[in-house]
Amino acid sequence: MPTASDTQFTSQFETLPSNQPMADEIRANILNNPGFGKHFTDHMAHIRWTVDADWHGHQVRPYGPLTLDPAASVLHYGQEIFEGIKAYRHADGSIWTFRPEKNAERFRRSARRLALPELSDADFIGSLKALLAQDHAWVPTPASASDECSLYLRPFMIASEAFLGVRPAHEVDYYVIASPAAAYFKGGVAPVSIWLSSHYKRAAPGGTGFAKCGGNYAASLAAQKEAEAHQCGQVAFLDAAENKWVEELGGMNLFFVFKDGRLVTPRLTDTILEGVTRNSVLTLAKEEGLTPEERPISIDEWREGAASGEITEIFACGTAAVITPVGELVSEHERIRLTAGDANNDSNEVAMRLRTKLLDLQYGRSEDKHGWLTQLV
Ligand code: COI
Repeated sequence: MPTASDTQFTSQFETLPSNQPMADEIRANILNNPGFGKHFTDHMAHIRWTVDADWHGHQVRPYGPLTLDPAASVLHYGQEIFEGIKAYRHADGSIWTFRPEKNAERFRRSARRLALPELSDADFIGSLKALLAQDHAWVPTPASASDECSLYLRPFMIASEAFLGVRPAHEVDYYVIASPAAAYFKGGVAPVSIWLSSHYKRAAPGGTGFAKCGGNYAASLAAQKEAEAHQCGQVAFLDAAENKWVEELGGMNLFFVFKDGRLVTPRLTDTILEGVTRNSVLTLAKEEGLTPEERPISIDEWREGAASGEITEIFACGTAAVITPVGELVSEHERIRLTAGDANNDSNEVAMRLRTKLLDLQYGRSEDKHGWLTQLV
């Protein structure tokens, strides 16, 4: 256990360094082949909230199991939200993150919907900096310009009050854990097959679809199991009201590239999560001469555009997925493949161009014209 003499302070974060950090050699082996979400760094950040004392007790401490009362309301009523954001190592060794104020803002939006307390930008970004001050050695160095290895950061907030009545908790804990990451999909950037869920819905109007809460992901898992049974890597969800409009994948947004240069993504509603990558792609696409359109897109338009060759590429995007081309859409009744594009669309030229542009920015290989990067270390 850390002792008081080990205690340091990073801004208002008190740091209790681990006395059992991972050995350099073992960490190096993990960083060579991290997979996604399987390994965790030596520390975690924590801030406590109580209805009387607001946010307090800012701390970075050794990574380890949480002690929760079995009556903690998160375990019963799912009052929980989270974020996903990455730390990137640049060629000079410095470590940066991408648009953290967008994640902080979305975290507050999610908090409001789940009746959780809101965390300031200063605490959100400060917690990432304080954690990285300890765990910077866990940020992998990319082997090439197409390598997407990074340290995936997972801020989350849980209702920890021991109370079985159904009401917003009076005690809440915020943590950040970190996990070295390579590509999210096993096949890397190879096109991923998508399962179209005919029965399950992810979100309904007035519900929590726009919030990043565990419940939305829990609701996607039965459909994700169907997807896996059909050799698909993700699920596409249609809207709950009309079963017609394409919304998003289980954990990613969708884009459709049209032959004439339009780049269409479903317009945001309260059933769609506003991705930071989605928002960035809309800006980068314009710089690449594409015409972004945010509007409703139906499953019929997907089917017809794929058959006629109007739609030439489809891709998924998210912090974890970066930009990953979509191959076919599979359902109980049909398989929708893109028929146009060059060489059966194998090149996914637009998706790959946008992916390179985004990665170059995130890894500091191109000029940060939009001021999207924040230095962590
Ligand atoms: C992310 O992209 O950060 C997510 O939270 C999605 C999840 C599929 C890992």
